[in-house]
Amino acid sequence: MNGLYRENGWLGKEPWWKDATFYQVYPASFKDSNGDGWGDIPGLISKIDYLHQLGVDVVWLSPVFESPQADMGYDVSDYQKIYAPYGTVEDVDTLVEACHIRGMKLILDLVVNHTSIEHEWFKESRSSKTNPKRDWYIWKPARYDAEGQQIPPTNWRGYFAGPTWTWDEHTQEYYLHLYASEQPDLNWESEACREAIYENTMCFWLERGVDGFRIDTVNKYSKRTEYVDAPITNPNSPCQPAPEMWCNGPRIHEFIHEMRAKALEPYGAVSVGELSNTPHPSQVLPYVSAAAQELDMVFEFSMIRLGTGGMFGPKYIYVPFSLPQMKAIVAKWQTFIEGTDGWTTVFCENHDNGRAVSRFGDCSTPELWRASAKTLALWQATLTGTLFLYQGQEIGMTNMPDTWGIDEYKDVEGLNFYAEAQASGDQKTIEDTMHGLGILARDHSRIPFQWDDSPNAGFADEGVKTWMRVHDEYRNINAANQTAGQDSILNFYKRILRLRKKYKDLFVFGTFRLLQAEHKAIFAYVKESPSGTSNAHPQTNGHTVNGHGGKKRAAVVVLNFSKETQDCLDVRGVLGCDDEDVARLLVSTWHREDAKRLMLGKNASPPALKPWEGRVYVSF
Ligand code: GLC
Ligand code: CA
Repeated sequence: MNGLYRENGWLGKEPWWKDATFYQVYPASFKDSNGDGWGDIPGLISKIDYLHQLGVDVVWLSPVFESPQADMGYDVSDYQKIYAPYGTVEDVDTLVEACHIRGMKLILDLVVNHTSIEHEWFKESRSSKTNPKRDWYIWKPARYDAEGQQIPPTNWRGYFAGPTWTWDEHTQEYYLHLYASEQPDLNWESEACREAIYENTMCFWLERGVDGFRIDTVNKYSKRTEYVDAPITNPNSPCQPAPEMWCNGPRIHEFIHEMRAKALEPYGAVSVGELSNTPHPSQVLPYVSAAAQELDMVFEFSMIRLGTGGMFGPKYIYVPFSLPQMKAIVAKWQTFIEGTDGWTTVFCENHDNGRAVSRFGDCSTPELWRASAKTLALWQATLTGTLFLYQGQEIGMTNMPDTWGIDEYKDVEGLNFYAEAQASGDQKTIEDTMHGLGILARDHSRIPFQWDDSPNAGFADEGVKTWMRVHDEYRNINAANQTAGQDSILNFYKRILRLRKKYKDLFVFGTFRLLQAEHKAIFAYVKESPSGTSNAHPQTNGHTVNGHGGKKRAAVVVLNFSKETQDCLDVRGVLGCDDEDVARLLVSTWHREDAKRLMLGKNASPPALKPWEGRVYVSF
């Protein structure tokens, strides 16, 4: 992984980060090394070998900077210091080294849409209307309604409920914050402010050797500057959803291009941006087209938002969805880069969402939990784009138990939505919100990592009060027993991450074609190598090839997303096998011994899929 590019044989030169496996670490909950109940950087360093053995290439560390923790570090008060419970700047240096000596890399979380109210810049900005940093944040005078009541500059609703404006007594103006009032938005219109961001937050860490950034809320830096009211979509609220006022604004591409030129490119740093509220490929491509020189990759959220009631008011009112809906979304975002110079990402978990196995799998019995977590693993590992895993996904960590009450929830967003439901006084709204939180809340992914079956799950020493409660199931679901267990989810991940690399032409770089789009239980698709000159369909175009020119090679992925046995589709037909061709089972989530025996010769049809079984067939 040295250098910017990796030689990929006949695929040609591709940037190293395309076939890398990224792994997100949520520092508060990964590993506590000093008994204060909070995870920390030394704790993470002690587990780097675990990540290396899993097959991780890049660690993405969620924010560790100094912060009053109004939003778990996404409110930074000093970008050049580390929040003391997490460690020190020197600990980050040690972490960089620990990654690099293993051939791994480290990216940090860059939070520069906003700072904390405790940041020196904001303190200066709020000190007077004439302060030179006044325009580093977004200040506006009050408005007055027909009755002469003071109201905010616009009617916008923020992400964490409530208005996007907070009144500042001292200078008698409002400041803008898309998130909590402790997270004032920086004003990217100010060139001095932008320069300070590049220098102070990015170059500082890149100089110290970090390899790049996951860039928070990357499409919200350029606001529409008219500051007008959003249309009223919820007449019962003073605040209205208004993402069109700040997402993908008029200067966004200029800003990101500049950021890349000044603070990423000179270091060869990798970038992956968080791109919310951007559900159209035509809007996403400009960010990730290589020629545009903006971001290497982005996270597009249509899939991971399945089940939510929307982004704003009804977010936590759960909306059930069908497998065909999910497949359509995946197909859309798998294929949107085909024929372009763009790139995409693959993920089904992060720190802002419930656990994948609880949302998309089946946790009703231990067998179904294990089977579905493996099938989700196979699904992710066979999709095109750069793969991102979230801590605990590899051991099938589940949502918090549904017996836990609101007291166990700590996240500002979930708690604000719950308070809003309570304020409505409507019992059904309260119950529905609690139900939705039970599936979707950000808290589920933030509880301590389950390392082993010792008290506190090996996350912290026995007797320590952990910052969030340890899952009741830690004795059954933990990394230690899965390291030992042959058929464990963890060992399946290790295996499949290696297969993904071995067959990267198919899995990382291949084209995607959905099969059986309307099937309610089977998720099946063909992955086809992009190499070769033939444009023929796999149905008419058989097997393989290594080398330039000639035919492409293909794999068919068949995943049973149900607890019933399902017939398997005609694998040989899909692969375009001739009589003498054999379709081979490359991998199954079921027993690996079986897998070797499963060759499909002439006229053979594949056996039925067991509940939540996933398989990949190839014909080369
Ligand atoms: C991103 C982060 C989220 C945070 C928000 C504000 O969406 O992923 O955790 O609350 O930005 O920084
Ligand atoms: Ca600690």
